[in-house]
Amino acid sequence: MAKTRQNWTAEPWQDSEMLECTMVIPESDNCATIAFRPPSGAWFDYQPGQFLTLDLPVPGGAVQRTYTISSSPSRPQSLSVTVKARPGSVGGRWLLDQLKPGMRLRAYGPAGQFTFLRHPAAKYLFISAGSGATPLMSMTTWAWDSGEMPDIVYVHAARKPSEILFRRRLEEYASRVPGLQLRFTVEEVDAYAVWPGYHGRLSQIMLGLMAPDYLEREVFCCGPAPFMAAVRDMLESLGFDLARYHEESFDAPALVEVPVEPSPPPGAAQIEFALSGITADCQGDDTVLAVARQAGLNIPSGCQFGLCGTCKVLKREGEVLMVHNGGISEEEIAEGYILACCARPQGLVSVEV
Ligand code: FES
Repeated sequence: MAKTRQNWTAEPWQDSEMLECTMVIPESDNCATIAFRPPSGAWFDYQPGQFLTLDLPVPGGAVQRTYTISSSPSRPQSLSVTVKARPGSVGGRWLLDQLKPGMRLRAYGPAGQFTFLRHPAAKYLFISAGSGATPLMSMTTWAWDSGEMPDIVYVHAARKPSEILFRRRLEEYASRVPGLQLRFTVEEVDAYAVWPGYHGRLSQIMLGLMAPDYLEREVFCCGPAPFMAAVRDMLESLGFDLARYHEESFDAPALVEVPVEPSPPPGAAQIEFALSGITADCQGDDTVLAVARQAGLNIPSGCQFGLCGTCKVLKREGEVLMVHNGGISEEEIAEGYILACCARPQGLVSVEV
C-alpha cells in the first residue's frame, strides 16, 4: 500500500532511483495507462505537461522511449504514462505486453517545456488527437485539483468514440464545473452506439463552433505532426497570434530549418568524457551522443533530434555546434548544458559524462 502523506520522504523522486510499476489500466485497444511509484516512497515533483524517458529492456537490447505524463503533480504519490502501441512499435508493444506490476524500470526526467504553467492566461484552448491527449489531461487535472478551474475548451479528435482517451474522467470533471467545455470529434462511430458529438476532421468551421472565442485563448496542441501542422495552419489563416500557440510532439519534425553554418573540419575533433576517464577522437560532424556510444558510454536519450531534452549534459570546456528543436532553454545553454544528440564538437570538447 502507498505510504500516507506523513510517511512520504522529504525529498522528491530523483531519476537515480528506479520506478516500480504498480498498475496497468487498459484504456482502449492497444492503449493503457501505466502507473509507477518509487520503492523509497519519494513523491513526484514535475509540471503538468512534462514527459518521462523510460529505459525498456526489449529483446535485442534496451531502448529508450519518451512518454508524456498523463497524471498530475497535484497527485504526487504516483506517476502515470498512457501508452498507445502503434503498428510496428517496439517500446509501446513491450510496455503493453510485457510490463507487469512489481517490475522496475530505469527512468529519466521529468523534463519538457510544454506546460500551461509557463503561459498563464485567462482562457485556454486545448487541442489534441489520439494519445496527444496525455499532456492536456495532466494540465486539466492540475486545473481541476487547483480549486480554481480556469476557462478551458478541451478539443479532442479520435478515430471512434470508444477511442477517446480519458473520456469518462473528463466528463466527470466537466459535469461539475462550467469552466471546462468538452468538444470531441470522431472520424467514424462505434456500431450500435449513438454519437451526439462532432463528426469528421477538425476544420475551421468546426473550430469556430467549438470555441467561438478561440482568438482570445492560449492554445496548447499535441498530436501527430501532420495534425499539429494542420491546426497551426488553420489558426494562422484565421488570424490567430501564433505567439500564443504551443505544441508538443515526439515525432521527428517533417521539416527542420537548419541555419547556414560553416562546415566543421572533418577529423579535427576530440571529446573528453571527463567522469569516465575516456577521450575519443572523432569527426567534427559527429554528435556527442554517437561518439559516446562508440566509446561504450550510455547517455540517456529519447527523440534524438533535439526536442525532448533527455540527452542534456554539462559541457566543461570547448565549443560545439548545436541545432536543436527546443529541447534546451537559453538559460541552460548559458549554464553550459548541451544536447548530446545534436551537439557536434569543434576541436577539443570536455563533457561531464
Ligand atoms: S534525445 Fe531528445 S533532445 Fe537529445
